[in-house]
Amino acid sequence: MNLGRELISGDAIQRRVRELAGDISRDYRNAERPIILLSVLKGSVCFATDLSRHITVPVNFDYVAVSSYGSGTESSGHVQLLKDLTMDVTGRDVLMVEDIIDTGLTTSFLFEHVQRHRPASLKLCVLLNKEERRITPVPISYKGFDIPNAFVVGYGLDYDELYRNLTAVHVLEP
Ligand code: IMP
Ligand code: MG
Repeated sequence: MNLGRELISGDAIQRRVRELAGDISRDYRNAERPIILLSVLKGSVCFATDLSRHITVPVNFDYVAVSSYGSGTESSGHVQLLKDLTMDVTGRDVLMVEDIIDTGLTTSFLFEHVQRHRPASLKLCVLLNKEERRITPVPISYKGFDIPNAFVVGYGLDYDELYRNLTAVHVLEP
């Protein structure tokens, strides 16, 4: 597998991140406590970090990790929690930050997991959306870009743990 053409430039990503952070800051301006940015490791770390720097309301960080992919490009469909929340999210406003929604299986699993802790609110912010591949519907509150059905890497997204550090999103080519 090789790095293919640039699908979304680093500049376009940064512009969109600032817009999303503006929407989030406006929507949560009356929140009584800091919002919890719940980043899903490892793919969403670049996105969540950049986003947080443009959010103007108080935020806390927390992280969860799941495994749903092996080292290939197809989902196994089997989601496993590798790292749980460390904060008490009961009664809190939680904003889950995901790199990409593909089948939706990972996100719906995590949504149910977080809901069990009875947060005051739970919303989803996602950088990339592959609508065509959806198996389980997920409610997206903040969306960066809709993309076609291709395997993409960069800006946090990996293939076999590579390419996460790229500033742009690229297509991966066989
Ligand atoms: P889903 O459960 O099928 O929605 O997949 C969610 C997870 O699969 C994401 O959080 C990514 O880690 C990974 N994933 C899905 N599509 C891609 C892709 O095109 N590139 C890199 N990782 C992907
Ligand atoms: Mg991944």
